[in-house]
Amino acid sequence: MPELSLELSRLPRHIGIIMDGNGRWAKKNKLKIAVGHRAGTEALRAIIRNASDIGIQALSLYAFSTENWSRPQGEVDALMGLLLDFFQSEIDELCRKNVRILILGEKNGLPPAQRQALTDAETRTAGNTGLWLNIAVNYGGRAELARAARSIAQAVADGQLEPNAVNEQTVEDRLYTAGLPPVDLLIRTSGEMRLSNFMLWQCAYAEFVFPTTLWPDFTLGDFHACIAEYQNRSRRYGSREEH
Ligand code: IPE
Ligand code: IPE
Ligand code: MG
Repeated sequence: MPELSLELSRLPRHIGIIMDGNGRWAKKNKLKIAVGHRAGTEALRAIIRNASDIGIQALSLYAFSTENWSRPQGEVDALMGLLLDFFQSEIDELCRKNVRILILGEKNGLPPAQRQALTDAETRTAGNTGLWLNIAVNYGGRAELARAARSIAQAVADGQLEPNAVNEQTVEDRLYTAGLPPVDLLIRTSGEMRLSNFMLWQCAYAEFVFPTTLWPDFTLGDFHACIAEYQNRSRRYGSREEH
């Protein structure tokens, strides 16, 4: 497929992806659900590599939500296994590409091996200066905001913060994504048009693109088509001027 020409000077700084449709892909191809999830991780490699190559600042991927624990145990186990495989097989290349890994979500709620692998990946890449690769695991946007509220309440109780001094920045500083730009472009594959609790705060002014492709079929061409669509949007942030 010929690559679309992107305006490299107007790339989204931060792209969020809700990688949806693995289950339907498996069903369509008469395969087991775990095979669908594995195919999903294959699709991911090319997108991460390309985001790094074209100079995207941050890429946030929804891998496992706080609500996904309610899936059948076999499927949860398969997803946890894939998470481990992914970090084991990708970490060296991500390091070589100067990628910084950040986990969004509650690592303490994960099985010990996954918790360890994710923490190691963060530590090992902490000094890198290229793409911020944020993986949302055991992540919920509401839980993230409740966590920020708890931290603010604690700072007030400790006498370190005046209630009147609490502003948007105070909240922002306590998110998993503190210091990163807001999400400019949010992609959700498979035709579903909802956030499913993903980055509620960070998506306040995101442009949404909903390709119908199921995630395992999502190609670099599809990724660039989403970026091209973003580049055609006019962003006003409530004003009369385009930004
Ligand atoms: C997304 O694919 C991956 C995860 C939620 C981990 P789904 O498994 O939700 O795919 P569908 O929505 O059933 O097709
Ligand atoms: C969102 O997809 C979570 C991930 C992609 C990891 P879901 O498939 O879990 O969301 P719903 O259930 O369709 O809202
Ligand atoms: Mg789904």
